Amino acid sequence: MSILDHEQVLIRTGPRSRLPVIVAVHSSTLGQAVGGCRLWHYADWRDGLADALRLSAGMTAKCAVAGLANGGGKTVVAVPPGVELDAALRRAVLDDVADTIASLDGGYATGPDVGTTPQDMAVIGERTPHVFCKPAEHGGSGDSSPATALGTLAALRAVSRRLHGTRALAGVRLSLVGLGSVGMRLARLLAEEGADLLVSDIDPAKRAASEELGATWVSPEEALTADADILVPAALGGILTGDVVPRLRCSAIAGPANNQLATEAVAGLLHRRGIVWVPDYVVSAGGVINALTLELHHETPAAARERVEAIEHTVADLLDTAEHRQMTPAQAAKDLVRLRLDAPSATASTE
Ligand code: PHE
Repeated sequence: MSILDHEQVLIRTGPRSRLPVIVAVHSSTLGQAVGGCRLWHYADWRDGLADALRLSAGMTAKCAVAGLANGGGKTVVAVPPGVELDAALRRAVLDDVADTIASLDGGYATGPDVGTTPQDMAVIGERTPHVFCKPAEHGGSGDSSPATALGTLAALRAVSRRLHGTRALAGVRLSLVGLGSVGMRLARLLAEEGADLLVSDIDPAKRAASEELGATWVSPEEALTADADILVPAALGGILTGDVVPRLRCSAIAGPANNQLATEAVAGLLHRRGIVWVPDYVVSAGGVINALTLELHHETPAAARERVEAIEHTVADLLDTAEHRQMTPAQAAKDLVRLRLDAPSATASTE
């Protein structure tokens, strides 16, 4: 991907925090660009820039496939190694982020992402109205992770139907990599469904909670290469590399982590191994669908839930299309994105 794929990219040293603040607006073809604010450690700010470029393009695809009249963007604050974000520095950087977003004058709105919370969105909201998912008491729709988990569950039903002919997840062997705010909620939902769960996280403190759910705790490496029906990536991106593919023993991969493929070529490698990979941007759309349905379209929570659960049909359609056209689900999803971006008015009129 070249930088010219993006409409604009702002990179500045936050005047208060002295930290690199990066806002990438990939596309506003379908409407205002949206995408979360990632506050994370990077060895080099350029790694944060690379993440912002990829993640913002992912948001364009996510919104397009979800049928939202929005484009894609992303904010990344690249915290250097060894820098600890105490309360004062956190406040400073959120103010810097807010001013940067405000300077875009509504062209881009942010929300929570890895490393930020609804409370952080309330802080950003003190300086700009272009922020989703503030806590309810501040007038926002709050934490987006329950909806992201629910949308992932819907996607998993469609995958299960493809593998076993039934959307029920009872007894389906799932291997979950990452128990962050989305992963842990998803584990709970899957346990309630009676799924046969392997779980893992780099943080051993997550073990007790997962075992209470009846899940089997394994190392992240074991979870990644486990003999399972569906592998569910729910941690940071890039876990599906060319080296990992030959060692995978799952039938399908579908999870909420953004940017799962280390390179685009991995989609083809997975396909050749007979592994069904559902693009992350299709699976993980629940959070943004929920926030936008409630906060932009002012619909009811029941209507938002229905739109999130419709991810099941979106995934089922993609898997069918891929089969009929003898292409990967990744290619089928890409074609759908292209179609929607080329005919923005058709998307908008279905809103
Ligand atoms: N950060 C989440 C995502 O990647 C969710 C989100 C973004 C929610 C923007 C609301 C607005 O989709």
